[in-house]
Amino acid sequence: MLDLRDAFVLPAPPHVELRAFTHGLMPKAVPALMQAFTDDWAERGVDAWNRVPNHWRPASGEDVGWWSLPEYLAEHFVAPLLEAPPHTCILQPNVHTTMQYVLSAPEVFASGRHVVITEAAFPSVQHSVKQWQDVFDLSLTVVPLTDAGFIDVTAVTQAVRPDTALAVVSHVGFTTGELLPPDALRAVADAVHAHGGLFVIDGYHSVGSVPVDVQALGADLYMGGLLKEACGSSGNAFVYLRDGLDLTPRMTGWFGDDDPFGFQPEPGVHPDVRRRFMGGTTAVASMYHAVEGVRILRRAGIDEVRAHSLALTEQCIARADAAGIPLRSPRPAERRGAMVILEVDAADRLCAYLKQRDVYTDSRQQRYLRMAPFVWNTPAEIDRAFDFIADAIQSGAYRHTLPETATAAGPVT
Ligand SMILES: Cc1ncc(COP(=O)(O)O)c(C=O)c1O
Repeated sequence: MLDLRDAFVLPAPPHVELRAFTHGLMPKAVPALMQAFTDDWAERGVDAWNRVPNHWRPASGEDVGWWSLPEYLAEHFVAPLLEAPPHTCILQPNVHTTMQYVLSAPEVFASGRHVVITEAAFPSVQHSVKQWQDVFDLSLTVVPLTDAGFIDVTAVTQAVRPDTALAVVSHVGFTTGELLPPDALRAVADAVHAHGGLFVIDGYHSVGSVPVDVQALGADLYMGGLLKEACGSSGNAFVYLRDGLDLTPRMTGWFGDDDPFGFQPEPGVHPDVRRRFMGGTTAVASMYHAVEGVRILRRAGIDEVRAHSLALTEQCIARADAAGIPLRSPRPAERRGAMVILEVDAADRLCAYLKQRDVYTDSRQQRYLRMAPFVWNTPAEIDRAFDFIADAIQSGAYRHTLPETATAAGPVT
């Protein structure tokens, strides 16, 4: 099995960190990279926008500056994770922003104003479409989930109509960890393309933990973030734009203009479509550590990462079965992402109980216990976690443990 514990800052044993689906651990190189940011700023000031030492690919001899980091890092670190061809990827602040760019491109609605999403869409997708629905006169189909809470791929393809402009589907669902296999995604792509629409995949939870081939999946756009399994922290999302996709988002700002330092009164269309997915001045500090997790995972090999993750989630499922805890995630390996969700009464209390015993999981809606064992976890840690879980469920002792915090927004577990 993989052992990438040395590459990350881990809580001291006996802590068991099982929250890769929520926030990745910090790669050990990150403090030095953040120091590099402050050094570059201190030593170069504004000139850092033009050139900084290449901290990301030092052996390449390539020039890089803050201005070009969004394309440069996406090209060399994100595109290979997606099997994407050159010049198709760029970093984004978050998926929400990418959705605004997409919805603001008139070309998207050239073939009609109908949009298909599923009930399992993350709010960054679902809310964005609904926020603009009346303004843009969109007709929206939200495809319901199956009784078991999974995506009904046939229903998604059947929801596509001649006026469908856009269909957006998650590669790995955030509520269940359900992975849509390539043939399912391809079926949706074919249905949408048959009517000239665009197929967008939200790959937030696949990138870094599951092999992805955006072209084989038929994606026109593939968006995601590096915060979680890819261990790149916040502010670091990305989008892939199929070669030849000529969108002109009205959201484009001056960082995406074709003559940014001409400060022209009229906006100009940048020749590189990726750059049109840029707004105002970018936040560069987060880009220093954006791809360190990706570097570690790629060095280990995404197939190996996937095999490790599957072995540990398999172990979680076996232990949950033995303890009689219902599983909310798909059981077959080919339908599982990196997360296992268990249905537990007062799951927030169980989560708090486990935290007091140095086992970090998270919970949702007081009903679901979530765990995503990843490249730093071992089978012994899974057993340790489940020994506590089985005891707690059997005795009911966890029900007396109050969850930490109560911020106005609810707990960020
Ligand atoms: C499927 C999915 N998409 C997107 C996001 C994050 O969206 P944003 O980058 O807009 O915060 C998440 C976060 O958990 C997610 O699970």
